[in-house]
Amino acid sequence: MTVEPKKILVVDDEESMRIALSEALSRSGHAVITAADGLEGARRFEEEAPGLVIADVRMPRLSGLELLKRVREKSPGAPFVLITAYGSVDDAVEAMKMGATDYLLKPFSADTLDQLLNRVFENGAPSPAAPARKPAPERAAPTREIVTGDESMRRVLAVALKVARSKSTVLIHGESGTGKELVARYLHESSDRRDGPFVAVNCAALPETLLESELFGHEKGSFTGAIARKAGKFELAHKGTILLDEVTEMTPQLQAKLLRVLQEEEIDRVGGAAPVPIDIRVVATTNRDIQQPVAEGKFREDLYFRLNVIPLRLPPLRERSGDVLLLARHFVAKFAAALGKKVEGFTPEAGAAVVSNPWKGNVRELENVIERATLLCSGELIDVEDLMLAPSPAAPARPAAGEAVAPGVTVAEMERRLIFTTLDATGGNRTRAAEMLGLSIRTLRNKLHEYRATHGLPPGGEEE
Ligand SMILES: Nc1ncnc2c1ncn2[C@@H]1O[C@H](COP(=O)(O)OP(=O)(O)OP(=O)(O)O)[C@@H](O)[C@H]1O
Ligand SMILES: [Mg+2]
Repeated sequence: MTVEPKKILVVDDEESMRIALSEALSRSGHAVITAADGLEGARRFEEEAPGLVIADVRMPRLSGLELLKRVREKSPGAPFVLITAYGSVDDAVEAMKMGATDYLLKPFSADTLDQLLNRVFENGAPSPAAPARKPAPERAAPTREIVTGDESMRRVLAVALKVARSKSTVLIHGESGTGKELVARYLHESSDRRDGPFVAVNCAALPETLLESELFGHEKGSFTGAIARKAGKFELAHKGTILLDEVTEMTPQLQAKLLRVLQEEEIDRVGGAAPVPIDIRVVATTNRDIQQPVAEGKFREDLYFRLNVIPLRLPPLRERSGDVLLLARHFVAKFAAALGKKVEGFTPEAGAAVVSNPWKGNVRELENVIERATLLCSGELIDVEDLMLAPSPAAPARPAAGEAVAPGVTVAEMERRLIFTTLDATGGNRTRAAEMLGLSIRTLRNKLHEYRATHGLPPGGEEE
């Protein structure tokens, strides 16, 4: 998707910024006019009638917001983008309230600028599809866009890109829903293995024996029920990448087998005679502090060192609050397009609610809430009610204190209530919920499965 050449007015008091923007924009074929402050910007706008204004918020004489106000009085529909410093969420909120078409968080890359122009001129087309359709000159673009303006996230992605081509094992550490799988895929897509398979296995989802044959495959007749030879995930990932999710949940026996895979680059099928050589890149994730099981002797230290060659830590969303609105807007565009609805953003109240919500379930929770809100939204802007956020975050340490403890309730029912209350309090984050409940993740999963079964609900809807 390329944007037709436009006349673009760049208003910024910083000369380096004007030059950088002019260069990037002219390279894409646009005609650029510049102004060094808001007043000059207003004058140039009248003289030149540009197709787009890109203005910094903070400028002497007339700020970007005031310039926006003046432009809006005369041309309510003129595309106008404000540049705000990263972290100043208030500016971004204010900009949207005052009718900016979009905003750019400083610092930004040429790619981000391209995506912005696409959004502005292709009338809200979602950015995720853009990288895939554009012929990428320097490197293959990842299939799924990672949206962030956060410095520490960018550092993580820069490291990921650097090590993508090597075969080194990567351990991604981050709370549930922070984007671990997304980053694992990014590693894969940025490597020479991108044409090979990407195979994900959740080590917490299966009991030990099943996980073993899932990973290593088995020969026909090697155990009751093994009616045919089955290739394991390691074999399926040959020449590609395997993602071992929640790797700390592996039993000691499987840890030993995994260590062998990493060291010898070959696997032993269950019931198989000879080892099978494989060429895979291993990426593992954990959403808990892996040092602890290592210290407790539950996770082999030698395996930990093998896995942790390149550690990547994904910060939780609450540590990158500047990303919240950015991601929220990204998801609105994505779901609006998917649903074929014209939803353009948030009402000021809804925007404020999104920014101030704790997002304990991180990006996944945000994505789910925005999907639902986009679906529910009846106008062009998402309203607070559409978000259906919990009124105020309940104190998570005291789920339903007092209220439910009354005779006449079974222990099983109390347990069920406690589990759901805790899950609510953690925004659906199972790892945190399990920790708070003093259960292993596996036990928690099993119980949830059980509740599902007893309520006759279909088994879908759960990430594997
Ligand atoms: N920076 C981001 N930009 C765009 N989408 C994101 C970003 N981070 C996460 N997402 C989306 O949020 C959802 C959760 O991400 P992902 O599955 O990668 O998280 P995770 O850390 O693997 O979670 P879990 O621990 O629950 O397995 C996915 O739909 C993903 O596409
Ligand atoms: Mg995951």
